[in-house]
Amino acid sequence: MEIIHTISALKTVLTPLQKAKSKIALVPTMGALHKGHLSLIKLAQQQADIVVCSIFVNPTQFTDPKDLEKYPRPLEHDIKMLSDAGCNLVFMPSVKEMYPSFPKPENWHIDLGKAEFLLEGEFRKGHYQGVTQIVKKLFDAVNPDIAFFGQKDFQQVLMIKNMVKHFNMPVEIISCPIIREEDGLAMSSRNIHLSETDRKNALVLSKALQYVKDNFDLLNLAQLLENAKGMINETNGVELDYFTIADGETLLPIENKTAKYPVALVAAKVGETRLIDNMLLGTNSA
Ligand code: PAF
Repeated sequence: MEIIHTISALKTVLTPLQKAKSKIALVPTMGALHKGHLSLIKLAQQQADIVVCSIFVNPTQFTDPKDLEKYPRPLEHDIKMLSDAGCNLVFMPSVKEMYPSFPKPENWHIDLGKAEFLLEGEFRKGHYQGVTQIVKKLFDAVNPDIAFFGQKDFQQVLMIKNMVKHFNMPVEIISCPIIREEDGLAMSSRNIHLSETDRKNALVLSKALQYVKDNFDLLNLAQLLENAKGMINETNGVELDYFTIADGETLLPIENKTAKYPVALVAAKVGETRLIDNMLLGTNSA
């Protein structure tokens, strides 16, 4: 497995492969890899010839400097995981490589549509501009045919799809199923910040989502929301930011169950750690 730090070295390795018509997959990550990331690598391997994984803790998507500072960076562990998983290439650029004028912000903006400002966009202003800025730079550097993202950040996948449409980029975006611990907790790099008590309390998020999914055909939307929010609000140490049943394409709350693509989304602070999770509610959803 090759580890590459600069865009020019990356292009030197990838260009001949692209000329030889190898299908290139990109799995963008911020490191602190877990089984969820490995599932993305696996899906990428099934669909492409070469899998590139990027590890870059992107400063422009953090709205809280403390969150950026404490973001876990277990690099050696990450590299071993990727190598064991058979990843072909790791791209690990410096901040200066991706943002030459850093810390001066780059003044460009992508129109991501109205959904940018809902849910996470409301609580983390500018977050998805930062995400799409770096994903665009990674796409420009790697030129992948296909890229894989976890459904856990449902809104992120939607924003990236909107960006790809906006620039008419020749890359296919794949949203991959959420990987959960046995008890239901969605895997996240942030879970390592949870204390033992937080870890127990955090289970209410997936339980509330599962409750909505199980009862979607039985109760009306207002009852579902009231009961799910009630479960979370009753849990000590969990502070709810939002729980919504939304249309997966607009992220606006649905008004009736005929919506094509309903999804329940939640965000809450568990102890000091902010977690997000979601569940698709359609009949064929996992
Ligand atoms: O989901 C993440 O880990 C990040 O938001 C991403 C897509 C790698 C961009 O920094």
